[in-house]
Amino acid sequence: MAQLWGGRFTKETDQLVYAFNASIGFDQKFFREDVEGSRAHVKMLAKQKIISQEDRDAILKGLDEILYDVEHHKLEITEEYEDIHSFVEANLIERIGDAGKRLHTGRSRNDQVALDMRLFTRRQVKETDGLLYHFLETILKVMEENLDTIMPGFTHLQKAQPITLAHHMGAYFEMFRRDRTRLHDIYERMNYCPLGSGALAGTTYPLDRDMTAQALGFYGPTANSMDGVSDRDYLIEFLSAASTIMMHLSRFSEEVIIWNSNEYRFVEIDDAYSTGSSIMPQKKNPDIAELVRGKTGRVYGALMQILTTMKGIPLAYNKDMQEDKEIAFDAMDTVKGCISLFDGMLSTMKFNRDVMEDSARHGFTNATDLADYLVVKGVPFRDAHGIVGQVVLACIERNIAIDDMSLEELQQFSSVIEEDVFHAISVKTCVDKRLTIGAPGKAAMERQIAYSKNYLKDNESLEARA
Ligand code: ARG
Repeated sequence: MAQLWGGRFTKETDQLVYAFNASIGFDQKFFREDVEGSRAHVKMLAKQKIISQEDRDAILKGLDEILYDVEHHKLEITEEYEDIHSFVEANLIERIGDAGKRLHTGRSRNDQVALDMRLFTRRQVKETDGLLYHFLETILKVMEENLDTIMPGFTHLQKAQPITLAHHMGAYFEMFRRDRTRLHDIYERMNYCPLGSGALAGTTYPLDRDMTAQALGFYGPTANSMDGVSDRDYLIEFLSAASTIMMHLSRFSEEVIIWNSNEYRFVEIDDAYSTGSSIMPQKKNPDIAELVRGKTGRVYGALMQILTTMKGIPLAYNKDMQEDKEIAFDAMDTVKGCISLFDGMLSTMKFNRDVMEDSARHGFTNATDLADYLVVKGVPFRDAHGIVGQVVLACIERNIAIDDMSLEELQQFSSVIEEDVFHAISVKTCVDKRLTIGAPGKAAMERQIAYSKNYLKDNESLEARA
């Protein structure tokens, strides 16, 4: 057991208590952030003459060596330390002696862990944004390639009106674009440095909090030291944004699963992104989409967990807050993994364009357009609706599409119908005529694509930032 706080104790900690209390098993995930924070702290201490230049240099060298040794598997992070902060400090003291004991001057593990978690989460925000950016590029590519790919649009999972695949993909482009804006907002709010908050009440040393904040890439220091050590709002916001991303991915997954089914055959998932059955040789299953859909629950769970953990905590730091890590880490890995796998699956997916168009033609998706045609010819809309209903019924009985009927047959339902009806109700015309902003008509879609391209150009990934 290596603890930082043995002084006032006369007995050893009970083994079970030690294990229950320790966080090294999971907070080693932000080892790099812990070293980075210590480096900034120590430089500031020296500049403020709180420690000497020699101690500063020794500490920085020691920290670099620890970082190197861990990354090159020469030093192992083991359970004998209580947490990652103890691991780094104990190793530093072992290597450089008394100078190492000065590292923690003017700092508490409370502001240290608040900093580490914030740095780590900030990195997750950026990486998630980078993955979303790439995913949006993939979606945009599918849009550009499928401006003329007609398919049925659905409501109630019943064929409703014809759209294009570009239009359908464009809906997801918007969802994931908004998800990015959420990440950007979170970044703006969270990018303040809690280091220097001390245990809760700041410190009597003349710390330069602006200096450490700047060195660590923050906009500035947090304004209140009690808030600095006990705020986890940014994590809640991130897990909320992550939950929304997962919700969008899950809806998309559900569609891929349906489209990939034997009944629909709209798409074919690439072999590299499918799995087989141990017993049924014919099977090629959409497991990736199903897993993404399933893992959504995990991320929602992480959001609920942190909200519940935080709700009863009085100011300032309480040990409950150690519970902000494990499940959140899992959610962070999950959302990133799901975005990149889905991206790979989408970019390799084959779209059966003929099947999609055929499905649009045979699902009466042009029924509204036939009604509108009658309206143009002077029939009141409510009557037109009734007439088309009868046409559809007759088609169902004969198992044909509306445009499979001859002109004479159609005229039996309404005498205003003329030869031009076939052009008016072809699914292509139905799509082409929908030209309002946001609609699937080609010219409207081209505008959406141009706007989406500009959006990507003007809103680079957060990963590009320092
Ligand atoms: N492992 C702790 C955590 O994750 C570090 C902070 C410990 N602070 C304390 N006062 N016990 O929250």
